[in-house]
Amino acid sequence: MKKLIIFLLLILAFPLNAQQMNYIPSKENVKSREFFNNHRFGIFIHFGIYSMLGNGEWVLENQGLNRDEYSKLAGGFSPANFNAQEWVANIKNAGAKYLCITVRHHDGFSIFRTKYSSYNIVDATPFRRDIIKELADECHKQGIALHFYYSLLDWYRIDYPLGNSGRKNGRIMQEDWDSYYQFMSNQVKELLTNYGPVGAIWFDGWWDHRNDKNFNWQLPELYTMIHGIQPKCLIANNHHQMPYPGEDIQTFEHHLPGEMKAFYSAPGISDKPLESCETMNGSWGYSITDKNFKSSELLIHYLIKAAGVNSNFLLNVGPRPDGCFPDEALQRLRDIGEWLKIYGKTIYETKGGFIPPHNWGVTTQKGDTLYIHILDCQDSTLFLNIKGGRVKKVYKFLGNVPVNYSCPKEGVLLNFGEKPKGLDYVVTLVLNRNK
Ligand code: GLC
Repeated sequence: MKKLIIFLLLILAFPLNAQQMNYIPSKENVKSREFFNNHRFGIFIHFGIYSMLGNGEWVLENQGLNRDEYSKLAGGFSPANFNAQEWVANIKNAGAKYLCITVRHHDGFSIFRTKYSSYNIVDATPFRRDIIKELADECHKQGIALHFYYSLLDWYRIDYPLGNSGRKNGRIMQEDWDSYYQFMSNQVKELLTNYGPVGAIWFDGWWDHRNDKNFNWQLPELYTMIHGIQPKCLIANNHHQMPYPGEDIQTFEHHLPGEMKAFYSAPGISDKPLESCETMNGSWGYSITDKNFKSSELLIHYLIKAAGVNSNFLLNVGPRPDGCFPDEALQRLRDIGEWLKIYGKTIYETKGGFIPPHNWGVTTQKGDTLYIHILDCQDSTLFLNIKGGRVKKVYKFLGNVPVNYSCPKEGVLLNFGEKPKGLDYVVTLVLNRNK
């Protein structure tokens, strides 16, 4: 008994940091990871009062705005065309299986009903509607999983211990970690109790204190609470590190697992489900000037390449301040949906194929079936490094037309008779089970 008390006192005196936590995911959580993996495609939504300024979600910080002036935007925030049914239908028709929405971004404004700050969409805007409730209801109705993006850092509150950002917006700080942590923990509890099943919570902003090695976000407590309330809820943290204990997903920002991208890259790829997020133009939040949208073809290639490295693709939409998705985004969502209607079988419920990515494309795999996605091939033949005896049959995914092949000693040579054309020329290769 005495030992136990000493142990508990030690825990209280030296709270665990995330790396030290011992985490064994529950059965439900493991199941939920499987669902998540099978989904392969989700839509990210960045929406908040920053949308009104049409200059991305970092506008408060990037333009050095005054926090009190910025917060007055809330008084005019009224996304009159917001329609949860339409948002979710557009997402569903795009073939996405989940949406992840910024319920509170770095600017500290909550777009959900919360008891713990009046700086929220119900109490501080003329709109007065909890759009997260409306979205949650629609997601549950239309069978789309609901994920929440939640910022750990805050540019509005004065109790948030200042990190690298939010230093020039005119706040008079009264830093108080305990008070700030309590606030976050209360809000996260609300998110997990007021909106039905939550597929995942996606944290961001950890890096605000990356230079302070002693800073303790108390993630183990936060994570334990989340899994305690909803064991199925997966946890992601966009910290660009290898996942900490308690986290269930590894996220990649602006790049695919395995690619290196300076600031954004984690030192490796974990055994957790992977998710790579990317913008449609160059901005997460709505940008009125950025018309540089990636083509539908490029986005579909991104989705295929993500699946080829065993990762989900989380594609962002930044709705306009009136609550509509930009027309360019709608067009791309439709195009991706059309493509997935035909090729979904080669993406959903697959894993990255055993043949690694090449310049010509990637492979995905389900059981004994390998889908060869040829995205760019300059030749009418394609050599694959598989033992000939392993190949049972090879045919074109569209139309089930057999593909000629020969088996030179070192592998298999597919011969299409012409250069593979189109956005994605998919070949199905069925493997012999026991070879
Ligand atoms: C970055 C940005 C943030 C954005 C996020 C999405 O962390 O700070 O604005 O929400 O990436 O991945």
